[in-house]
Amino acid sequence: MNSIKVGLLVGSLRKESFNKKLARAAMELAPPSMNMEIMSIGDLPFYNEDIDQDPPAAFREFREKIRSMDAILFFTPEYNRSVPAVLKNALDIGSRPYGKNSWDGKPAGVISVSIGDIGGFGANHHLRQSLVFVNMPVMQQPEAYIGGAMGLFDDSGKLIKEETITFMKQVLGAFETWVKTQRGASS
Ligand code: FNR
Repeated sequence: MNSIKVGLLVGSLRKESFNKKLARAAMELAPPSMNMEIMSIGDLPFYNEDIDQDPPAAFREFREKIRSMDAILFFTPEYNRSVPAVLKNALDIGSRPYGKNSWDGKPAGVISVSIGDIGGFGANHHLRQSLVFVNMPVMQQPEAYIGGAMGLFDDSGKLIKEETITFMKQVLGAFETWVKTQRGASS
């Protein structure tokens, strides 16, 4: 596999989201083999099994998009020690209809970003719990709990903290290896 298509899912819709800024930084810091794209989840309707009898275009297109990706990298804020609803909604939509789980087998990574000191640990691990059920093999190490998000970016949204830049390169390098290993194992 020459180019690895990686879908980035960002669990915050706000304009100045730190998670979104870190996802954009990841697109620049990732190894050249990784072709990253932020997948839009903000306009997805709330999942409802009734409307999924005849799925809306937004559901169908999102599921197709997931299927077109080789791997998925999640960026999640922590809301009340868990995953924001918008990200859980996207996860639920991708997992259905029953028996047609679009996430199935896609290698994944989880990065949590918070203004707090513990870097979204709670959200990171709640998300991992769901990823077990949708059968996504998730990179274990290095774990990425990015705290103190207010001090990481300049006014233009660029990641400027050297320590975090170095760490992100390490995480993304490990993720490339993880995805290649997983893809190799399944072929
Ligand atoms: C938060 N925040 C938060 N932070 C944290 O470390 N643990 C938490 O449990 C929560 N809970 C929480 C709930 C709700 C409803 C909001 C709006 C916020 C703060 C959160 O880390 C902060 O708003 C981040 O900036 C959110 O990420 P984005 O939007 O910058 O990507």
